[in-house]
Amino acid sequence: MLRRFAVFLPFACAAAAAAAQWVEEVPFITTPDHVTLGMLELAGVGPRDHLIDLGSGDGRIVITAARRFGASGLGVEIVPELVQRSRAHAQQAGVADRVAFRTEDLFQTDLSRATVVTMYLLPEINLQLRPRLLALAPGTRIVSHDWDLGDWRPDRTATLPVPDKAVGREKLSRVHLWRVPAPVDGLWCAGPVALRIAQRFQHYRAQIEGPVPHRWEGRIHGAQLPPPVGGPPRPGLRWREGVLEVAQGAPGVAPGSRFTQAEAAACPAG
Ligand SMILES: C[S@@+](CC[C@H](N)C(=O)[O-])C[C@H]1O[C@@H](n2cnc3c(N)ncnc32)[C@H](O)[C@@H]1O
Repeated sequence: MLRRFAVFLPFACAAAAAAAQWVEEVPFITTPDHVTLGMLELAGVGPRDHLIDLGSGDGRIVITAARRFGASGLGVEIVPELVQRSRAHAQQAGVADRVAFRTEDLFQTDLSRATVVTMYLLPEINLQLRPRLLALAPGTRIVSHDWDLGDWRPDRTATLPVPDKAVGREKLSRVHLWRVPAPVDGLWCAGPVALRIAQRFQHYRAQIEGPVPHRWEGRIHGAQLPPPVGGPPRPGLRWREGVLEVAQGAPGVAPGSRFTQAEAAACPAG
């Protein structure tokens, strides 16, 4: 917390001093080209994606996403000279119509348009960003070079050799992928039928208290809560704009049923 204040206080006073301090905190180190490709491939970036790179350096991740994968993108970077360089690179690469670069503090960036967020920052900055990343639309992909998101475990990790890596003793880079899980923790009601879910990032335990009770656990894939494979039939659920729909029925739980999040401690009596 102290460190955060140490960073923000000068920001309020003098932008230039704050910029210098941020650079000290997260220096400009480029992601090597093959690692950039590895990150974009891990996220499955395509023409329908809008990628935001937080701390975009010379713009290479955003430009590669546009040039190689047809995505649109935004790079936000605190050092104005790097933003100028990124715009020049985008012109040279012929993707200036699909990408934008802004001089901006990444903590101020509106992430709502992103379908993919990329980062090569530091562990503590990643952790500060985590609540905002978890609040993004379910299914949004987050890819981080080297650093993780604490106890929010990645869905996938790939390791790539980097023989001339300047930082760290290991001559390799790790790239981590997360898919934002739907926020399903709590009590949900379909009339008098109660669905209680305890969520920990992508993992959930569910219990239906109705005429046919069910208890199961599984993994959240973006907006989907597929039923567990094997064992007795359990409902498959899909989160959509704050409603949990039964995508796959089970005894006593009809497909198409809709559970809404309960404000009260119990569902209305039938
Ligand atoms: C390790 S470099 C990564 C550059 C690029 N994303 C890449 O992977 O090649 C981190 C970048 O974040 C920038 N940065 C640091 N703090 C920032 C902040 N608060 N807002 C925006 N950019 C920041 C640094 O200036 C630096 O260019």
